[in-house]
Amino acid sequence: MRAVDIIIKKRDRQELTCEEIEFFINGYTVGEIPDYQAAAWAMAVLLNGMVPRETTDLTLAMVNSGERLDLSGVVPIVVDKHSTGGVGDKTSLVVEPVVAACGLAVGKMSGRGLGFSGGTLDKMESIPGYRVDLSTDEFLKQLKSIGLVLTGQTADLAPADGKFYALRDVTGTIDSIPLIASSVMSKKIAGGADAILLDVKVGSGAFMRTLGQARQLAELMVSIAELTGRRALALLSDMNQPLGRAVGNALEVVEAIKTLRGTGPEDLKEHCLTVAAHMLVLGEVAGSVEQGRDLAKAAIAQGTAWERFKSLVTAQGGDLSYIEEPQKLPRAKIIEVVPSPRTGYLAEIDARWVGETAVLLGAGRAKKGDAIDHSVGIEIFAKVGDWVETGQPLFTVHAKTRGEMEQARQRLLDAHRWSDQAVEALPLFYGVIDQGSR
Ligand code: URA
Repeated sequence: MRAVDIIIKKRDRQELTCEEIEFFINGYTVGEIPDYQAAAWAMAVLLNGMVPRETTDLTLAMVNSGERLDLSGVVPIVVDKHSTGGVGDKTSLVVEPVVAACGLAVGKMSGRGLGFSGGTLDKMESIPGYRVDLSTDEFLKQLKSIGLVLTGQTADLAPADGKFYALRDVTGTIDSIPLIASSVMSKKIAGGADAILLDVKVGSGAFMRTLGQARQLAELMVSIAELTGRRALALLSDMNQPLGRAVGNALEVVEAIKTLRGTGPEDLKEHCLTVAAHMLVLGEVAGSVEQGRDLAKAAIAQGTAWERFKSLVTAQGGDLSYIEEPQKLPRAKIIEVVPSPRTGYLAEIDARWVGETAVLLGAGRAKKGDAIDHSVGIEIFAKVGDWVETGQPLFTVHAKTRGEMEQARQRLLDAHRWSDQAVEALPLFYGVIDQGSR
């Protein structure tokens, strides 16, 4: 078999066999197939798609590119959560300590930023000393001792996904249903999850722009879980505007801390309570979503979720003083509040435009391996449906240079659209895809 023939076959819209997919994935993982051929293949898949059978074969080939974690001796039931990526999506930072505080142990392997969407690892690395490279042994020990881990994918788990993820970030090959489904599900299967909560984002700031695409991705991932003997449930959640108010690594850590301490923005709090409630049901800690919500709310109100977050940071080498006094976290040189240029109802805040602006400010990467700036980003003050008056603060830009600040200001003003008529607030969720509901 030759890699070039497999690229040509997909370019010509033909179905790949399981053997061809395995050959390509294994060859790329061990370095026999170079980045340029893998990028061409990923682009052919993005343009021409895959049938569900090919996507399942791709997922399993990525799982088999490395080891599988067996957590059965460590925790009674392994529930994992994964977001398909959004703007201002700091959900994991809040939800994982909340569910751990409710008695459900979670060991999560997260990713870095992808395209315009932020990544949990980049956010957590804003905390000086915080390690995201735990070994499998360290992962297991920490899961047992404090019931909470938030680290990067270890090199031996689904390494094919690790390589493709970084390559797709910089080759315009992210927004593909088969590539996203196999990337997400391979990590979760290799990570030993018994049950998976999928937060499938939809809207301008998501890789799935329409509800139809998001539903298709959610159904595909839920069916891959089923085929491999796992439980999965997907929430279709709004990403037409940033989630919460902060976009940018350290800024999002600050917002997650506020939410864990009960003073975060309402939309982020509500989103996190729903995700946590479903995880608690999947983990058999709660008998219903309502009961799960009550438990999650109590964990925030009683401070146990915040205590868990502190134990997590300490266990992974982070300097606790930075989260106890978040003003010590990295701060940009230039911080400027931009007032609203007009009066009216806010009709749209283009989340993708906001995410791309954060990347331009330095919060994300343009090339594989680029360093990022944890201090830069954006805080928005108004959400869709809000009434805003001329001169009222609209957003704050945190920038490294005056030029980047000016560019961001203009782009962000362009991302806001107005109406003289009342505009309805956006919903947080559009639906649930469960194994029985397809
Ligand atoms: N999240 C992932 O883990 N992979 C993708 O491809 C997109 C979002």
